[in-house]
Formats: sequence, C-alpha cells, structure tokens
Amino acid sequence: MASGTSRDVVGRGLRVLGRAIREQPRIFAVAVTGSVLFGLMVIASAYVVGGVVGKVVVPAVARGSVTDGALALAAAALFGISVLRVVGIFGRRLGAGYMQYRLQATYRRRVTRRYLDLPLAWHHRNATGTLLSNANSDVEAAWYPIAPLPFAVGTLVMLVGAVVSLFLTDWALALVGLAVFPALFALNVVYSRRMAPRQARAQRLRAEVSGIAHESFDGALVVKTMGREAQETARFAARAGDLRDALISVGRLRGVFDPMLETLPSLGTLAVLVVGAIRLRQGAITVTELVSVAFLFTVLAFPVRAIGWVLAELPRSVAGWDRIRRVLDATGEMPYGEVALDPATPAPATLAFHDVHFGYEPAEAHLPGTEVLGEVTFTVPAGKTVALVGPTGAGKSTIASLAVRLVDPRTGTVTLDGVDVRELTAASLASTVALVAQVPFVFDDTVRANIALDRPGIGDEEVWAALRLAEADGFVAALPEGLDTMVGERGTSLSGGQRQRLTLARALAGRPRLLVLDDATSAVDPRVEAAILAGLRAPADGGAPASILVVAYRRATIALADEVIYVEQGRVVARGTHTDLLATVPGYADLVTAYEQAEHEREQTRTYDEVTPLTSGLEVEVDR
Ligand SMILES: Nc1ncnc2c1ncn2[C@@H]1O[C@H](COP(=O)(O)OP(=O)(O)O)[C@@H](O)[C@H]1O
Ligand SMILES: [Mg+2]
Repeated sequence: MASGTSRDVVGRGLRVLGRAIREQPRIFAVAVTGSVLFGLMVIASAYVVGGVVGKVVVPAVARGSVTDGALALAAAALFGISVLRVVGIFGRRLGAGYMQYRLQATYRRRVTRRYLDLPLAWHHRNATGTLLSNANSDVEAAWYPIAPLPFAVGTLVMLVGAVVSLFLTDWALALVGLAVFPALFALNVVYSRRMAPRQARAQRLRAEVSGIAHESFDGALVVKTMGREAQETARFAARAGDLRDALISVGRLRGVFDPMLETLPSLGTLAVLVVGAIRLRQGAITVTELVSVAFLFTVLAFPVRAIGWVLAELPRSVAGWDRIRRVLDATGEMPYGEVALDPATPAPATLAFHDVHFGYEPAEAHLPGTEVLGEVTFTVPAGKTVALVGPTGAGKSTIASLAVRLVDPRTGTVTLDGVDVRELTAASLASTVALVAQVPFVFDDTVRANIALDRPGIGDEEVWAALRLAEADGFVAALPEGLDTMVGERGTSLSGGQRQRLTLARALAGRPRLLVLDDATSAVDPRVEAAILAGLRAPADGGAPASILVVAYRRATIALADEVIYVEQGRVVARGTHTDLLATVPGYADLVTAYEQAEHEREQTRTYDEVTPLTSGLEVEVDR
C-alpha cells in the first residue's frame, strides 16, 4: 500500500467517523466525557501516588513511623480517584456500545429499506450474497472503529494534559515526555498501517475459504459422482494454506511491534529516572514530582494504544462504508404516479401493451444493453384469459414483470384500464394486479400469515376461500395445525406443487382485478392445474372473473384460454386460439408437443407433488 493511499484511507475513515458523530452526537459526548474523565484521573492518580510517596512514605521511612492522618488522606484520595475512573470507564464503554450498535441497527434498516425501494432492474444486477453482506458484515465493518473511538479521543486529551502537567513540573522532564509520547504515537500509527493490509488480506481469504467449503458441500453430490474429491480437496487446501500464511504474517508483525510498544514507555520511565535524579540533585524538583512523572509514563502506555486500534480499523471501515453507500446512493427507484384506479365495485381490469420495447440494464454501465422485447402489442380484455406461450428465454417472464410494473418499458406503454401504469399510485397498483412468480416463495411463518400478509380485510374466511380457489384447501386442512401450521424454511416442508398453490392463494386473497401467472402451477398435477384455471375463469360464487395473463405450457391449460399469444425471441409471432395456432404455426405445435413429451417422460418416474419447485420441464436449465 503506497503511503499516499493509506493517508487517503485515514482521511476518508475520519470522515466516516465524523458522520457517525453527527448522527449520534449526544451519546458520543457521553462516551468522550467518560473517556476524558478517565484520562484526567489517570494523570491525577500519578500525582497522588507521587504525593503519597513523597509526603507519606519518605517521611515515614525517615522517621520510622507512619502518621495516621496523612495515610488516611492518601487512601481517601486514591479511593476517590478510583471511583471517578470507574465512572469514566462506565460512561465510555456504555456510550461507545450504544453508539456502535445503534449505528449498526440504523444502517441495517436503511440498507434493507433501500433494497425494497430499488427497482427490480437494480436487483437483477446485484447478487443475493452481496445484498446479505451489505446489510450484515459491511454495516458492522463500517462502525467497528466506533468502539475504541471515544477511548482514543479521551487519550488525545489526556496526552495534552500530561504534557502540560509535565511543563508545569519541570521543563527537562517535559522534554523527555515530548520525545516519548510522539514516538509512542508514531509507533502505533506505523503498526496499524502495516497491520491493515495484512488484516484485510486475511479477511478476504477467510471469506474465500468458507466460500470454497460452501461450494463443495453444496455440490457434494456432483463432487462425489464426478470423482472430483481430490481436486476439491486440493483447491481447499491451497486457500487454507494462504489463510494460514496471512495469519502468520499478522502474528509476526504483532510479535515485532508488541514488545516495542511495551518497551518504549519503560525506556521513558528510565529516562525520567535518570534526568529526574539529576534535577533532584540540582534541587529543581521534589521526590513527589519525580515519582509522579515516572508513574505517569507507565500508566500512559496502555491508553495510547486505543489510537492504534482506531487507525487499524479504518481501512475496513472505509471499505464497508463504500459498499453501504453504493446501496444508499443507488438511483432509479420507481416514482409512482397520482392516479388511483379503485372502482367502487371491483370489476376485472383490462391490460394492454402498446409497442413495448425492453432490455435489461447491462451488468456494467459501459456495456450496451441488448433488447429483450420488441414491438410487443397485445390486450387482455376485461374478464378474459390470455395464455402466453413460447420457448425458454422468449421473454414471457419479462412480459409478466412489465404487466405488474416490476420494471418499466424502454419505449411504449403498459396500461391498465387505459391508464399508463407509471401514472398509478403504489396502492392502486398493488390492489389491482397480482403476480404469481415462476419460483414460489414461502415465508417462514404460518399458512395464515403467508396468505393474508397482514392485509386489511383478509380474515380466515377469505383465506379459506382463496385456498379453495387455488385447490389448496384439501392439503391445508390436512396439515397438523391447519392454518396455524408453520411452513417455509424451518416449518413443515411442502412439496413444490403445494408451495405453488400457497403462493397462488396469497395472490387470490387480495382479489386482484388482473392476475398474472408466470408458469405458477407447473409443479401441480396437470388435471389440478386445469381445474384451478377453470375455477378462476368461472368463480363458484358467481362473481366476475379476474382478467388473467397466464404463462403456460400444458395443452389442457392453454386450451382454456380465450386467446393464445405466441412469443419467440422477444417478439409476438402469432396469436389466436389454441386450435388455430396448432394448425398454422409450426413452432407452436412443436413446442407444445415437446413439452408434453418431456412431461410424459417425467411422469414415468415421479408424481407431481413430489417434484421440487422450478422443475417445469423445459424451463429447468435456464431458469435455475
Ligand atoms: N435479470 C436479467 N438480466 C439480463 N437478462 C435477462 C434477465 N432476465 C432475463 N434475461 C434475458 O431476457 C430474455 C428473456 O427472459 P425471460 O423473460 O425470463 O424469458 P422466459 O420467461 O420466456 O423464459 C432471455 O434472453 C434472458 O436471458
Ligand atoms: Mg420465465
């Protein structure tokens, strides 16, 4: 690390700390006050010890007896100082802890809040692992130096106080102080500068080692079946070796500097005793003063290291902060409009795409983004069902995201009941459309919570109605605790088809006026899938059916649609009824037949509800 960049890191690190202080000024003041109190008491203790030696011990030795009064006074003074020191330590520790953990909590909240505000396009460019580490270890790293910061600030004040008191005592002793304190300070700075890159390297290697381990465990099956144990072990051993070397180099540096940091104050004490003895003989100082100063040098050594601790943490703090700021400063959240679209009597909505073009942002800004959709125009009339069919990568999921405004088109418009979706309020959009995604997501919570999501007006009755529509009431009723059964990560595990039906019920419970199903029932038995769609098109309660845009592959499901839109490579290639398209569009017929065959083969080996989510035949390679 060049000295220019490390100075830069210190400067930027101090600015990060400045921000922390501005965010929590009062708590910081408490911590620093405690630390300064501690520092002043350290100096005071040196003078009291000097006083005890000079005024009590020396006369007592000379006389051969101790005066009780003087002894009591000295004891009281030392006790008082100890109490104040304890108060100081308490204030500093408490303040520093509060400040550090409050800042962590605040920034965790800000980062996760920001994730929710950022558009899907931003999420597409950022890996989930990165998002987790932003909210977790980056936030921690950014505020690590807060813990020793008040101590360091108090120490600086203490050093100034020590030098001043030295000058008040004797200029010759003060000169010794002026030589030793800055040297101690400089040694700490050099130490932490050398340490920082080594620590950073060790930290990075730690992450790499656990990354490799994670990969090998995750892919244990592949590793074993492909006979790659030896290579995996070698790969792991190499990184583990690097980590060992990095940590040894940390230890070696510590081995060199720790004794120096210990020795320097001792040398200072020695110099004080030599210079002090001469000054004592000259009659310039008293025994009390000499002992005080010598003691001062020994007690100062430890707090000075707090400055080193802060400096050592700065590079990590700056790195963490940069990564947090990248999230907080990210732009491109979707502004919502002002138009509310909530009719008094809910009726199905009309969805229309007009000449929509879309492309995902390239991962790096300088790369050109490719167009994923072009000239997409179609309508889902109120109350009708439109099936979206096309090969993997054709753009079906992208169309689904545009329909519910997870992303906005580059050009062209998406409208709901004739209103551009960009002009709708967030609430209006949420109550009008619902997307059931390709990958079902189940929260680690009860069935009830998963479906109601705390939305007003969704009680048990509505939950059961939604479950019935999603053909999920049967298996939910059979769960050990019904709606109260915990599902998800740590709860009862559900089959892929069951998860899909739960997420469908979640969407239906909100009574959307437009339902977008992105291959959302692929793991459900084909007959049940058709039954679900039929039920949605003609509700048993006689109410108006929602408009439905459904990405589907199965013949029985597609056949239920009023119209089929066939897409290939981001373009609408053909549209019409299923029968028309089968007869006239060769690509369409091939696709539907191929899917049927793939499903048939799969059916030989397992039943639907045992299939894990995502395994919808043709989609499996790409969408995983
Ligand atoms: N997050 C993304 N970033 C970049 N390209 C993407 C992203 N998601 C999908 N694509 C690309 O957009 C095209 C359409 O994808 P998608 O809408 O998922 O197709 P389908 O759902 O029909 O399989 C594909 O070429 C795919 O590679
Ligand atoms: Mg898709």
